[in-house]
Amino acid sequence: MIIAVPKETGKLEKRVALIPETAKQLVDKDFEVWIEKDAGHASNFLDSAFEEAGAQIVADRDKLFSKADLLLSINTPPEEDLGKLQKGSVLVCFLWALQNEDTVDKLQQQGITALGMDAVPRISRAQNMDALSSMSSIAGYKSALIGANELDRYLPMMMTAAGTIAPARVLVLGAGVAGLQAIATTKRLGAKVEAFDIRPEVKEQVESLGASFVEVPDVGEDTQTEGGYAKELSEDKQERQRQVIHEHAKKSNIVITTALIPGKPAPLLITEQMVKDMQPGSVVVDLAAEQGGNCELTEPGENVVKHEVKLIGPLDLPSQLAYHASKLYSKNMLALLDHLIEEGELHFDFEDEITLKTTITHDGEIISPMLKESE
Ligand code: NAI
Repeated sequence: MIIAVPKETGKLEKRVALIPETAKQLVDKDFEVWIEKDAGHASNFLDSAFEEAGAQIVADRDKLFSKADLLLSINTPPEEDLGKLQKGSVLVCFLWALQNEDTVDKLQQQGITALGMDAVPRISRAQNMDALSSMSSIAGYKSALIGANELDRYLPMMMTAAGTIAPARVLVLGAGVAGLQAIATTKRLGAKVEAFDIRPEVKEQVESLGASFVEVPDVGEDTQTEGGYAKELSEDKQERQRQVIHEHAKKSNIVITTALIPGKPAPLLITEQMVKDMQPGSVVVDLAAEQGGNCELTEPGENVVKHEVKLIGPLDLPSQLAYHASKLYSKNMLALLDHLIEEGELHFDFEDEITLKTTITHDGEIISPMLKESE
């Protein structure tokens, strides 16, 4: 079986789906591993290291796609490349099937088995395959560093001969995987950290990291789906939430926003008026930029200054830590493959929750229950 890894094509993308260490694990299992020339260059995994691991470097991208039995990538490859995959081959990548119906249609018609790394269920048994968490954790960490770097102040309290400096104040909105990592990182840097999330059980997690939880009365009921994700709040609750956040944002030097609701635009948490009321030189790092942003003034992909506040809307945080992002992603992917491989072949048992939920298309059929429900 040929396992192939293409070079990613996204402008800001620096990650690669396999690294030499994980390529070697597949070679040791008697798979033929093909890596497109320079696929790992941007994340500092050089062709020579892949060769040492027993992989073959392939310069011909057409050949890589047309001969692959199993194609592993981070992002969904461009349409022209997908068209070269052979019927019955398997594709594993971030597919975002609900948002990319046309691609799913094509994969289904082509008879490709497509697995979405974003569709791995978030259950204990699948924790080592959870690439969303790996990437969110990196994004949270990096957002804290960006906030610290953009701020013209110290984060920790400093006792100097010239006087004592108070610690910077950080407000984290949305305390899922990324938010909790942003809290942990800004705490380690010595800031005074507060956080808010609409899911009530998050309070304990926030406090266990040494941050304080911002209470918004009567918001924390019926805020969560069965799968543990946030639900969209009513307009009335959102307004109450914004009033409380407004008071805390005024006192904060850095606001890191990470609030997301699956399948919906990011909730608006920071209005223009709130930005106006923040102290000059404050920084907002908006991790929800890709879904429209949690801050009204965020410009996705840009760093701008409005009302004397720096607004950062990064779209490529995992790629900014491409070495570790690639390493973690490839380990998540390998764990998924280990789950599927039996006697050297990929085996699809749809009685198994992980296989069922992760498989989007197989044998010309839609498999994913999430996608079927949405039809
Ligand atoms: P996410 O990236 O979808 O959302 C980030 C955070 O934004 C969430 O904590 C959400 O509650 C919050 N949020 C949404 N609307 C908000 C609003 N209006 N104001 C403030 N906060 C708001 O979430 P993520 O990080 O992907 O985690 C989702 C869930 O999955 C969590 O319950 C997490 O604990 C769980 N999870 C479970 C895993 C497992 O068991 N293997 C692994 C990873 C996550």
